[in-house]
Amino acid sequence: MKFNIAILPGDGIGPEVTAQAKKALDAIADVYNHTFIYREALMGAIAIDKTGNPLPEETIDICEESDAILFGAIGDPKYDNNPSAKVRPEQGLLRLRKQLGLFCNIRPVKAYEQLIDESPLKKHIISGTDISIYRELTGGIYFGEKNLSEDGQVASDGCSYSVEEIERIAHLAFKEAQKRRKKLTLVDKANVLETSRLWRRVVTDMASEYPDVELDFLFVDNAAMQMILNPKQFDVILTENLFGDIISDEASVIGGSIGLLASASVGKKNALFEPIHGSFPEGAGKNIANPIASILSAAMLLDHLGLTEEAGLIRKGVDKSLKLNITTPDINTKHDNVTTDKVGDFIADFIVNPNETNINFTNIHLGQSTII
Ligand code: IPM
Ligand code: MG
Repeated sequence: MKFNIAILPGDGIGPEVTAQAKKALDAIADVYNHTFIYREALMGAIAIDKTGNPLPEETIDICEESDAILFGAIGDPKYDNNPSAKVRPEQGLLRLRKQLGLFCNIRPVKAYEQLIDESPLKKHIISGTDISIYRELTGGIYFGEKNLSEDGQVASDGCSYSVEEIERIAHLAFKEAQKRRKKLTLVDKANVLETSRLWRRVVTDMASEYPDVELDFLFVDNAAMQMILNPKQFDVILTENLFGDIISDEASVIGGSIGLLASASVGKKNALFEPIHGSFPEGAGKNIANPIASILSAAMLLDHLGLTEEAGLIRKGVDKSLKLNITTPDINTKHDNVTTDKVGDFIADFIVNPNETNINFTNIHLGQSTII
C-alpha cells in the first residue's frame, strides 16, 4: 500500500531519532511491499531560524495532506532562557495540534521486564504495569487567554473546557478501556477547579453508555503519588491537558527511561506521532539519544494506518534490542558505546531478518557483534 508521511524532525535530538524511525519504516516497506512517501517540513526553533515562524504555512499544508505525521522533538535553550521571547518554538507544536484538531493524545506506559532492574523504582511495584494515558490536547490552560499586565507585575492563564471537548476524548478513553482491562480513571482537581467539576459531571453521565467499564476518580496530587506507589492499579487514565503533560512524564520513570515513551495525537482527520521526550539539546549531534521512543512512535503510526502486523514487527525489534542490550547509554548498564544509529540499524536489520540466523545476533551472542 502507499502512504504519504509527513516528517517533522524538529529540534535538538529530533532529527537523529526520527532518522532511526525512518529506517524502521523503510525496512517495513521493504518486507511488506509498501510505499511510504516522505515529505519533510520545518517546525520549532529550526523553523524560526530559517523562516521566522515556528510553524510555516507550508508545514501545515504538508501535514494536512498526509496520511500520518511523524514528529521528532521541539525546543531550544536560547528560547527557554529568554522568557520575553515573542516567538517560541513550542508555539509551532501547539498551533499544529490546534490547527489539525489533534484533541486526543495517547501515551502508553509499560514496564519493560528487560529494564526493570535498572529502574529507580522497586521491581515489585512496577513489574506488570501497563497504562494508557489519554491526555486532552487542544484545550485547557494551554490554550486559554494569556495576559501580562503592562507593568509586568501580574500574569494570568485562563483555563476552560466545554462539554463537547470533554465528551469527544472521553468516548475514546471509554472505548479503549473496553478493549483493555475495563477500568477508567479520571484524574482531575475537582475539589478546587470548576473545569474539573465539569469533567467529573460529564464523564459520570457518560458512564452508563459503557456499563462494562469501571470508572473511578483521583485528584491529580493523589494520582501523582499513586503513580509511584502502585502504578499497576491503573488501566486507562483520562485527564486534561496540563495534568496529562505532568503525569505522563512522571509515568515514564516506570518504563525505565523517558527515551522509551511514544505517543499518538489523533483528532478529526489527521494524526501525529511523537516521542514524549523533549529535544535534549545537550545530547544533540552526539549520537547518544535513545531512538526507541521515536521508533515506537512509528509503530503507533503503522497501527493508525491499519498496518498492525507491521507495527508488531517493529515492537518485536525493540524488544529484541532491549533483550540483547543494544541500547543507548541512558538504559544500557553493560555498554556505554551503543549509538543512536546502531540501535536504529539493529532494529531495521531485525525487521528484514528477524531470525536468530541474522549475522548480528550470532555475533552478539559470540560477543563479536558488528553492531556494537
Ligand atoms: C509534550 C511537551 C509539550 C507539551 C511542549 C513541548 C509544548 O511537553 O508534548 O508533552 O507541553 O505539551
Ligand atoms: Mg510534556
